[in-house]
Amino acid sequence: MNAGQTTDNAAPDSAAFPVSAQAVSACVQQTVRADVQQTHAYVVADATGLLKLDAMENPHPLPEALKQGLAQRLAEVALNRYPSPESPALEAVLRGATPIPAQAPVMFGNGSDELIHLIIQACCAPGDVVLSPIPTFVMYAVSAQWNHARFVGVPTLPDFSLDMPALLATIETERPKVLFVAYPNNPTGRACRTEDLQALAHAMHPGLLVVDEAYAPFSSSSFMPHVLDLPNVVVVRTLSKQGLAGIRLGYMAGAPAWMAELNKVRPPYNINVLTRAAAEFLLAHHHVLDEQAADLVAQRAELAQQLAQMPGVLQVYDSQANFLIFRVADAAAVFQALRNAGILIKNVSGMHPLLSGCLRVTVSTADENRQFLNALQKVMAS
Ligand SMILES: Cc1ncc(COP(=O)(O)O)c(C=O)c1O
Repeated sequence: MNAGQTTDNAAPDSAAFPVSAQAVSACVQQTVRADVQQTHAYVVADATGLLKLDAMENPHPLPEALKQGLAQRLAEVALNRYPSPESPALEAVLRGATPIPAQAPVMFGNGSDELIHLIIQACCAPGDVVLSPIPTFVMYAVSAQWNHARFVGVPTLPDFSLDMPALLATIETERPKVLFVAYPNNPTGRACRTEDLQALAHAMHPGLLVVDEAYAPFSSSSFMPHVLDLPNVVVVRTLSKQGLAGIRLGYMAGAPAWMAELNKVRPPYNINVLTRAAAEFLLAHHHVLDEQAADLVAQRAELAQQLAQMPGVLQVYDSQANFLIFRVADAAAVFQALRNAGILIKNVSGMHPLLSGCLRVTVSTADENRQFLNALQKVMAS
């Protein structure tokens, strides 16, 4: 076949693509939303060849026997069939692994990212307000924007605790439809007080308080047991930080009436058969994941202590999550020097003025934490 020729099924050869790039781009410019055109796709740092401590992943691999069992289980999955719309078996193992009130239905998402998006989609008409304390997880603002809602952020206090008077005043004036509180928060690691969540739910009424517990496996408290105590709360969680980031499975629980409405905007086949089978199999062995999380909590205390003693580290913040943030004089320089030394962490100093000078590092195994600390020590001494 000559270059440029195509069969009925093959994509056209790009060299012989029949329309010019300019013609395509003129159509794109006139059709795609202006705010989409002005932004960048979500950037994921290239970690090739680097020790990856930037994304709050669990560093522990699955034990060999579990890998074998999982491979066998996945081989039996019927890939030719659409997933069934409900996931009763998955829900049953999840309830065995996590204390979710029995009367609270569960809805699954393609990561909790999808659930955040669906909540806003279900609740917000164009221009409605989505509120969150900031700095926080960036997807609340991003999802609000793509759903034509208006994101309002209320800065925390300098120690990253909630500014309750400011939040309550903003709820009063803006009447948000949805308030997201990450509990514990990313990127600060701080968990607010349970009483504050209750007060916020009361103030938000009838609007929805979403308690995002992505880091619950590492935290000493959870709002999940209270999710049915108030009429306007849902709790969102994920398996990502527990060692299963790759399968993309989030879930949320709340009162039946909330779940029934939120379920209406869920794409029918959002949880693929492989994800469902893997989660079912692995949650039946959740003690393995729980032990890994417990190890990371112990490592967090050790890492925080070592960081606090490191010359050049100005401040280390208490964290209830599987990461720590710490402040240095020049975050960009330290970040780059660590990267040059083969270690990838996250420079969060540009996210918000309160985070100026701050870097975020994922808590890892004792060995990887040691590699990070050794590299940081050299960077600080140079
Ligand atoms: C607070 C918070 N919520 C949700 C997520 C998204 O998690 P998932 O991997 O389930 O989409 C993250 C990811 O970093 C997060 O920090």
